Amino acid sequence: MESLRLVLIVCHIAALVVLLGGVVYHLARRSPAGPAVVGGAAALLGTGVLLVAVLVAGDLGINGPKIGVKTAVAAAVLGCAVAARRAVPPRQPMMYATGAFALVNAAVAALWA
Ligand code: HEM
Repeated sequence: MESLRLVLIVCHIAALVVLLGGVVYHLARRSPAGPAVVGGAAALLGTGVLLVAVLVAGDLGINGPKIGVKTAVAAAVLGCAVAARRAVPPRQPMMYATGAFALVNAAVAALWA
């Protein structure tokens, strides 16, 4: 169970790297968000849910309010990413919002004990 949790954390962080890398790339090119941005946002949500399942199954305890806030912010990240992908012409503010919400969630993860 512990090794599964560690693998999921690595996937969770990798999804964040893919998302932020995609945001920076498309902001620099002034192009609509690519599949990496939407995929990274969806993977963050998916691996987050799986992490919670592993913590519950292993009786390791979860911080309910923190998970609730992270899920809401992750949903906002995914919504902004989808909007940034569909926008024609490209909408830079949607891309900035995607990256900013993702960083907010990373801060919540790291700073909320
Ligand atoms: C944009 C979305 C997200 C970002 C940027 C993000 C970021 C992070 C980061 C940086 C960590 C590792 C740091 C730490 O553990 O203190 C982490 C851990 C974690 N995240 Fe997320 N997260 C996101 C979405 C979610 C969602 C939606 C859930 C749950 C539904 C979730 C559940 C967790 C859990 C349970 C851990 C801790 C795992 C452990 O310590 O065993 N995350 N997240």
